[in-house]
Amino acid sequence: MNAPKSVQADIATRARELVAVMHRAADAAARFIAERSLSRDTLVWRSKAHQDYVSDVDTGAERIVRETLLAGAPEARILGEELSPDAALDADTLFVVDPLDGTTNFLHGYPQYAVSIALVMGGITSAAVVRNVVSAETFSAVLGEGATRNGAHIAVSRIDDPQHALVGTGIPFRTPEQLPLYLRQLDAVARDTAGVRRAGSAALDLCDVACGRFEAFWELTLSPWDFAAAALIVREAGGAISTIDGAPLPLARSSVLAGTPTMHAWLGALLARIAGAES
Ligand code: IPD
Ligand code: CA
Ligand code: CA
Repeated sequence: MNAPKSVQADIATRARELVAVMHRAADAAARFIAERSLSRDTLVWRSKAHQDYVSDVDTGAERIVRETLLAGAPEARILGEELSPDAALDADTLFVVDPLDGTTNFLHGYPQYAVSIALVMGGITSAAVVRNVVSAETFSAVLGEGATRNGAHIAVSRIDDPQHALVGTGIPFRTPEQLPLYLRQLDAVARDTAGVRRAGSAALDLCDVACGRFEAFWELTLSPWDFAAAALIVREAGGAISTIDGAPLPLARSSVLAGTPTMHAWLGALLARIAGAES
């Protein structure tokens, strides 16, 4: 952070105030999603794109998150997947919202989906909340203050031997042109690690890196609402996160590579070798 110390202190104070509002918003949306999961069979699926479905639960949850956040921070702008995906990013106070990360899981009753909210102040991600709707685990972080799960501090795994590592990933179902490269990556990672998991919620996958369940994670294309909150949680838990090329994550569609510092470096080098061999 390059801002003067007094500005940093102001940002930290406001982030601490707003994280409470973010928890309220995530809780309210999670209650709504959990209630609607009881009548899942009556939901109408709408197609956003090829193999990409959404229901009124996504938009309803985002409405609840918006109302709660704006009641607590009327000055804020919201970048939200369903209702304001093209919002300008230059607001001093910006919330980045995925009201339901893991929609496909939700629609099928596969119990891994979450509400994800990041706070970006002056371009810096300052606070984060990711709430698993089914398990009720809540991951959270405030910049410089560490990461928590249900209020208790968490840290990334101490395993730094790839052969002992469990690695999370996402399959590029929206960008099938990436499948040949992805399958070569999967082949290499599966050969050299203890296992690979595709659980269907990138935000929760990244929180699993933060709390030591996964040693690393990669996905070729994600949107900012998928990773903005969990990226801060990974960093505050002592992990490393970047694009697959090792660049800082933008607030835009991007690849994502995360892990313990050692596993992040190892997986980055492996994926770079495969991309190099293809070109
Ligand atoms: C999706 C999930 C999934 C990832 C996709 C995301 P959504 O988010 O995070 O794990 O592989 O790329 O789009 O659509 O369920 O909010
Ligand atoms: Ca998502
Ligand atoms: Ca979503």
